Amino acid sequence: MSQFPVLTIDGPAGSGKGTVAEHVAQTLGWQLLDSGALYRLVALAAQKKKIAFDDNSRLTELAETLDAVFLPCEEGSTEVRLDNKDVTQAIRSEDCGLMASKIAAKAGVRKALLKRQRDYLISPGLVADGRDMGTVVFPDAFAKVFLTASVEERAKRRFNQLNQKGVDVSLASLIIDIEERDFRDINRSEAPLIAANDAITIDTSHLSIKQVVAQVLAIVKNRQ
Ligand code: C5P
Repeated sequence: MSQFPVLTIDGPAGSGKGTVAEHVAQTLGWQLLDSGALYRLVALAAQKKKIAFDDNSRLTELAETLDAVFLPCEEGSTEVRLDNKDVTQAIRSEDCGLMASKIAAKAGVRKALLKRQRDYLISPGLVADGRDMGTVVFPDAFAKVFLTASVEERAKRRFNQLNQKGVDVSLASLIIDIEERDFRDINRSEAPLIAANDAITIDTSHLSIKQVVAQVLAIVKNRQ
Protein backbone atom coordinates (compact mmCIF):
# COMPACT_ATOMS: atom_id res chain seq x y z
CA MET A 1 0.00 0.00 0.00
CA SER A 2 1.23 3.49 -0.87
CA GLN A 3 2.21 6.01 1.78
CA PHE A 4 0.15 8.69 0.00
CA PRO A 5 -3.65 8.90 0.26
CA VAL A 6 -5.96 8.32 -2.71
CA LEU A 7 -9.52 9.55 -3.06
CA THR A 8 -11.40 7.72 -5.82
CA ILE A 9 -14.41 9.27 -7.54
CA ASP A 10 -16.22 6.87 -9.86
CA GLY A 11 -19.50 7.12 -11.68
CA PRO A 12 -21.25 7.12 -15.06
CA ALA A 13 -20.88 9.70 -17.85
CA GLY A 14 -22.23 13.10 -16.85
CA SER A 15 -22.46 12.38 -13.12
CA GLY A 16 -20.23 15.42 -12.51
CA LYS A 17 -17.21 13.43 -11.35
CA GLY A 18 -14.69 15.23 -13.60
CA THR A 19 -15.61 18.72 -12.40
CA VAL A 20 -15.95 17.59 -8.79
CA ALA A 21 -12.59 15.79 -8.91
CA GLU A 22 -10.92 18.92 -10.34
CA HIS A 23 -12.30 21.17 -7.57
CA VAL A 24 -11.53 18.70 -4.78
CA ALA A 25 -7.96 18.14 -6.04
CA GLN A 26 -7.41 21.89 -6.22
CA THR A 27 -8.73 22.45 -2.69
CA LEU A 28 -6.62 19.63 -1.24
CA GLY A 29 -3.57 20.49 -3.36
CA TRP A 30 -3.43 16.85 -4.56
CA GLN A 31 -2.63 15.39 -7.98
CA LEU A 32 -5.51 14.69 -10.33
CA LEU A 33 -5.98 11.64 -12.54
CA ASP A 34 -8.68 11.91 -15.23
CA SER A 35 -8.57 8.25 -16.26
CA GLY A 36 -11.34 8.70 -18.84
CA ALA A 37 -9.02 11.04 -20.75
CA LEU A 38 -6.53 8.16 -21.17
CA TYR A 39 -9.20 5.92 -22.75
CA ARG A 40 -10.31 8.85 -24.93
CA LEU A 41 -6.68 9.39 -26.01
CA VAL A 42 -6.26 5.74 -27.02
CA ALA A 43 -9.51 6.02 -29.03
CA LEU A 44 -8.39 9.22 -30.75
CA ALA A 45 -4.92 7.81 -31.48
CA ALA A 46 -6.50 4.64 -32.93
CA GLN A 47 -8.73 6.74 -35.16
CA LYS A 48 -5.81 8.89 -36.35
CA LYS A 49 -3.68 5.80 -37.07
CA LYS A 50 -6.63 4.03 -38.69
CA ILE A 51 -6.39 1.04 -36.35
CA ALA A 52 -9.54 -1.10 -36.51
CA PHE A 53 -11.52 -1.48 -33.25
CA ASP A 54 -11.22 -5.28 -33.50
CA ASP A 55 -7.42 -5.23 -33.86
CA ASN A 56 -6.76 -6.01 -30.19
CA SER A 57 -2.99 -6.45 -30.42
CA ARG A 58 -2.39 -3.10 -32.14
CA LEU A 59 -4.76 -1.36 -29.72
CA THR A 60 -2.88 -2.85 -26.77
CA GLU A 61 0.44 -1.74 -28.26
CA LEU A 62 -1.01 1.73 -28.80
CA ALA A 63 -2.10 1.94 -25.15
CA GLU A 64 1.34 0.73 -24.00
CA THR A 65 3.19 3.36 -26.04
CA LEU A 66 0.70 6.24 -25.82
CA ASP A 67 2.52 9.58 -25.88
CA ALA A 68 0.12 11.49 -23.61
CA VAL A 69 0.92 14.57 -21.57
CA PHE A 70 -1.34 16.47 -19.16
CA LEU A 71 -0.20 20.06 -18.68
CA PRO A 72 -1.75 21.97 -15.78
CA CYS A 73 -2.80 25.49 -16.90
CA GLU A 74 -2.90 28.62 -14.76
CA GLU A 75 -6.70 28.75 -14.28
CA GLY A 76 -6.75 25.20 -12.91
CA SER A 77 -7.70 23.54 -16.20
CA THR A 78 -5.51 20.99 -17.97
CA GLU A 79 -4.14 20.93 -21.52
CA VAL A 80 -4.10 17.41 -22.95
CA ARG A 81 -1.42 16.61 -25.54
CA LEU A 82 -1.19 13.55 -27.77
CA ASP A 83 2.02 13.07 -29.81
CA ASN A 84 2.87 16.66 -28.86
CA LYS A 85 -0.38 18.09 -30.27
CA ASP A 86 -3.08 19.85 -28.25
CA VAL A 87 -6.15 17.57 -28.27
CA THR A 88 -7.91 19.06 -25.22
CA GLN A 89 -11.10 19.80 -27.19
CA ALA A 90 -10.88 16.89 -29.64
CA ILE A 91 -11.06 14.22 -26.91
CA ARG A 92 -14.22 15.77 -25.40
CA SER A 93 -16.53 15.07 -28.35
CA GLU A 94 -19.46 12.63 -27.96
CA ASP A 95 -17.95 10.50 -30.73
CA CYS A 96 -14.65 10.19 -28.90
CA GLY A 97 -16.50 9.22 -25.68
CA LEU A 98 -18.38 6.46 -27.52
CA MET A 99 -15.20 5.19 -29.21
CA ALA A 100 -13.44 5.25 -25.82
CA SER A 101 -16.15 3.10 -24.24
CA LYS A 102 -15.69 0.48 -27.01
CA ILE A 103 -11.92 0.43 -26.57
CA ALA A 104 -12.21 0.41 -22.77
CA ALA A 105 -13.92 -2.99 -22.89
CA LYS A 106 -10.66 -4.59 -24.11
CA ALA A 107 -8.59 -6.41 -21.48
CA GLY A 108 -5.25 -5.66 -23.19
CA VAL A 109 -5.91 -1.93 -23.29
CA ARG A 110 -7.03 -1.86 -19.64
CA LYS A 111 -3.94 -3.79 -18.56
CA ALA A 112 -1.66 -1.45 -20.50
CA LEU A 113 -3.19 1.60 -18.80
CA LEU A 114 -3.19 0.15 -15.28
CA LYS A 115 0.44 0.89 -14.37
CA ARG A 116 0.32 4.29 -16.05
CA GLN A 117 -2.67 5.22 -13.87
CA ARG A 118 -0.99 4.01 -10.66
CA ASP A 119 2.07 6.12 -11.50
CA TYR A 120 -0.04 9.24 -10.91
CA LEU A 121 0.02 8.53 -7.19
CA ILE A 122 2.70 10.88 -5.92
CA SER A 123 3.03 13.21 -2.94
CA PRO A 124 0.97 14.61 -1.29
CA GLY A 125 -1.99 12.53 -2.55
CA LEU A 126 -4.21 11.77 -5.53
CA VAL A 127 -7.80 12.35 -6.59
CA ALA A 128 -8.58 9.74 -9.26
CA ASP A 129 -11.77 9.88 -11.32
CA GLY A 130 -13.15 7.19 -13.61
CA ARG A 131 -15.18 3.99 -13.62
CA ASP A 132 -12.94 1.48 -11.82
CA MET A 133 -10.71 3.67 -9.64
CA GLY A 134 -12.12 2.30 -6.36
CA THR A 135 -12.63 -1.28 -7.55
CA VAL A 136 -9.53 -2.11 -9.64
CA VAL A 137 -6.90 0.62 -9.93
CA PHE A 138 -6.80 1.82 -6.30
CA PRO A 139 -8.69 -0.82 -4.25
CA ASP A 140 -6.85 0.35 -1.08
CA ALA A 141 -7.88 4.00 -1.48
CA PHE A 142 -8.50 5.68 1.86
CA ALA A 143 -11.78 7.25 0.68
CA LYS A 144 -14.08 6.19 -2.17
CA VAL A 145 -17.01 8.09 -3.64
CA PHE A 146 -19.48 6.95 -6.29
CA LEU A 147 -21.48 9.70 -8.02
CA THR A 148 -24.78 8.99 -9.74
CA ALA A 149 -27.53 11.06 -11.39
CA SER A 150 -30.56 10.23 -13.53
CA VAL A 151 -29.91 9.74 -17.26
CA GLU A 152 -32.14 12.76 -18.05
CA GLU A 153 -30.22 15.03 -15.67
CA ARG A 154 -26.86 13.87 -17.03
CA ALA A 155 -27.99 14.43 -20.63
CA LYS A 156 -29.32 17.89 -19.69
CA ARG A 157 -25.95 18.86 -18.21
CA ARG A 158 -24.15 17.73 -21.34
CA PHE A 159 -26.74 19.53 -23.51
CA ASN A 160 -26.11 22.82 -21.65
CA GLN A 161 -22.32 22.40 -21.88
CA LEU A 162 -22.48 21.79 -25.64
CA ASN A 163 -24.99 24.62 -26.16
CA GLN A 164 -22.64 27.03 -24.44
CA LYS A 165 -19.93 25.99 -26.88
CA GLY A 166 -22.34 26.62 -29.78
CA VAL A 167 -22.61 22.90 -30.68
CA ASP A 168 -25.98 22.02 -32.20
CA VAL A 169 -27.21 18.76 -30.66
CA SER A 170 -30.57 17.38 -29.49
CA LEU A 171 -31.33 16.33 -25.93
CA ALA A 172 -32.93 13.11 -27.23
CA SER A 173 -29.74 12.07 -29.07
CA LEU A 174 -27.66 12.77 -25.95
CA ILE A 175 -29.95 10.56 -23.86
CA ILE A 176 -29.46 7.74 -26.38
CA ASP A 177 -25.64 8.22 -26.38
CA ILE A 178 -25.46 8.20 -22.58
CA GLU A 179 -27.68 5.10 -22.30
CA GLU A 180 -25.51 3.30 -24.86
CA ARG A 181 -22.32 4.23 -23.01
CA ASP A 182 -23.83 3.25 -19.60
CA PHE A 183 -24.94 -0.10 -20.98
CA ARG A 184 -21.49 -0.89 -22.35
CA ASP A 185 -19.64 0.32 -19.22
CA ILE A 186 -21.93 -1.58 -16.81
CA ASN A 187 -22.13 -4.85 -18.74
CA ARG A 188 -18.54 -5.39 -19.87
CA SER A 189 -16.63 -8.26 -18.29
CA GLU A 190 -13.44 -6.23 -17.70
CA ALA A 191 -13.68 -3.79 -14.75
CA PRO A 192 -17.37 -2.95 -15.21
CA LEU A 193 -18.82 0.30 -13.86
CA ILE A 194 -19.93 -0.51 -10.33
CA ALA A 195 -19.60 1.16 -6.93
CA ALA A 196 -16.91 -0.40 -4.71
CA ASN A 197 -18.38 -2.11 -1.62
CA ASP A 198 -16.78 0.52 0.59
CA ALA A 199 -17.71 3.54 -1.57
CA ILE A 200 -20.10 6.26 -0.42
CA THR A 201 -22.71 6.94 -3.10
CA ILE A 202 -23.96 10.49 -3.72
CA ASP A 203 -26.92 11.13 -6.03
CA THR A 204 -26.04 14.47 -7.65
CA SER A 205 -29.32 14.86 -9.61
CA HIS A 206 -30.54 17.74 -7.43
CA LEU A 207 -27.22 19.05 -6.12
CA SER A 208 -24.97 21.85 -7.38
CA ILE A 209 -21.27 21.19 -8.04
CA LYS A 210 -20.50 23.28 -4.96
CA GLN A 211 -22.73 21.06 -2.78
CA VAL A 212 -21.18 17.84 -4.11
CA VAL A 213 -17.65 19.19 -3.62
CA ALA A 214 -18.54 20.13 -0.01
CA GLN A 215 -19.88 16.61 0.65
CA VAL A 216 -16.80 14.96 -0.84
CA LEU A 217 -14.43 17.20 1.15
CA ALA A 218 -16.37 16.33 4.31
CA ILE A 219 -15.87 12.61 3.55
CA VAL A 220 -12.11 13.19 3.16
CA LYS A 221 -11.96 15.18 6.38
CA ASN A 222 -13.81 12.44 8.28
CA ARG A 223 -11.26 9.86 7.15
CA GLN A 224 -8.17 11.92 8.01
O1 C5P B 1 -15.07 9.57 -18.02
P1 C5P B 1 -15.12 9.66 -19.52
O2 C5P B 1 -16.50 9.92 -20.05
O3 C5P B 1 -14.13 10.63 -20.06
O4 C5P B 1 -14.68 8.21 -20.04
C1 C5P B 1 -14.79 7.83 -21.39
C2 C5P B 1 -14.98 6.31 -21.45
O5 C5P B 1 -13.78 5.69 -21.00
C3 C5P B 1 -16.09 5.76 -20.56
O6 C5P B 1 -17.35 5.68 -21.19
C4 C5P B 1 -15.59 4.38 -20.20
O7 C5P B 1 -15.97 3.43 -21.14
C5 C5P B 1 -14.07 4.51 -20.26
N1 C5P B 1 -13.46 4.55 -18.94
C6 C5P B 1 -13.21 3.34 -18.31
N2 C5P B 1 -12.57 3.32 -17.12
C7 C5P B 1 -12.19 4.45 -16.53
C8 C5P B 1 -12.46 5.70 -17.13
C9 C5P B 1 -13.12 5.72 -18.35
O8 C5P B 1 -13.57 2.29 -18.83
N3 C5P B 1 -11.54 4.38 -15.37
